[in-house]
Amino acid sequence: DSSNLYTTYEKYFYVGVALSKTDTADDIVMQSVLENFNSMTHEFAMKWSQVETSPGVYDFSYMDDFAGIANKNNFRLIGHTLVWHKANPSWLFTDRVMNDDMARDFYLEVMRKHIATMVARYRGKVHGWDVVNEAFYYDGNFRPSPWLNLIGKDYIEKAFEFAHQADPDVELYYNDYGLVDKSKQDAVVEMIQRLQEKGVPIHGVGIQGHYSLTYPDLERLDNAIARFSELGLKVMITELDVSVLPFPGPEERGEDAEINPARVQELNPYSEGLPDEAMQQLTDRYVDLFCIFLKHRDAVSRVTFWGVTDARSWRNDWPVKGRTDHPLLYDRNMQPKPVVPALVDLATNY
Ligand code: G3I
Repeated sequence: DSSNLYTTYEKYFYVGVALSKTDTADDIVMQSVLENFNSMTHEFAMKWSQVETSPGVYDFSYMDDFAGIANKNNFRLIGHTLVWHKANPSWLFTDRVMNDDMARDFYLEVMRKHIATMVARYRGKVHGWDVVNEAFYYDGNFRPSPWLNLIGKDYIEKAFEFAHQADPDVELYYNDYGLVDKSKQDAVVEMIQRLQEKGVPIHGVGIQGHYSLTYPDLERLDNAIARFSELGLKVMITELDVSVLPFPGPEERGEDAEINPARVQELNPYSEGLPDEAMQQLTDRYVDLFCIFLKHRDAVSRVTFWGVTDARSWRNDWPVKGRTDHPLLYDRNMQPKPVVPALVDLATNY
């Protein structure tokens, strides 16, 4: 029907969504996903901790079903993510006492085996993999992680090479947030150029879109997409959500941040729902963002929303736990917001 999102965008780019296990068990959500999107990513189930619960013991049952849904419905299936500093199984980095050379060789093989297992299993089913996720800090330095510490800076290129060996046809991406910010963007561009100079296969960059009503500045987003497309890479806007809530000060953020009772009203103003004015701001912000994506439609191959319904968005718990945010296309009752027809109109009249 006319409010169908992906058919109005398919001449420009894929429109995708990240799904949770709760989503895939919810027929109403899945019906809406099948009608409005043509790409899917799993929010959690393909991460290492979920598929290799103990060394060499894999449980692919859920992901095989998920891949089946995507393939049966002709969806582009995205693999998220092979190498990351989070969501690793607890046994992975147990404190094996090793000297540096042994640790490097040992963990290169551990990483290779994981990548080869995942990429080979979903060969012909997954269109592209987020091979390495979030390897840099905002200041442009490498993020300290077990991978960096145990293998060294070349863990990134090794991960891409291992993935390509397992499936020469699958697309391989680097995925990160903050890529509109200069120092991190410079570091990622330089890293990609090094890979390209070495002939390491990389096909795209995922620009995570965890945005707000004001971040990022549209011109900087415009320039970021242009800069990555000039590298000859496919550009994907991954993990798109737009928070309408105020961003707390540094002392109020983080994994364990709870709302200071004295600040509840200020930090969580829409706990009863989104007033019309705020809903209009959300609609306008999404239209502004999609105007930038359409401007770069020759470089942008996919835009993926990080979730379907506000009820299950990770933004309800980040950067502060237990807030009521309204960042996605569907509200808590799975009703499409005015953003959906606004984005359909934008593409129809573009
Ligand atoms: O499914 C279990 C449930 O059985 C259990 O009762 C519950 C409480 O422990 O945990 C549930 O698993 C949670 C999972 O989300 C599914 O909801 C994990 O604890 C929780 O850590 C996990 O969080 C995910 C997070 O990545 C860490 O993997 C978020 O959903 C997901 O939105 C978030 O996504 C990341 C991207 O992968 C990378 N970019 C940043 C983005 C936001 O952090």
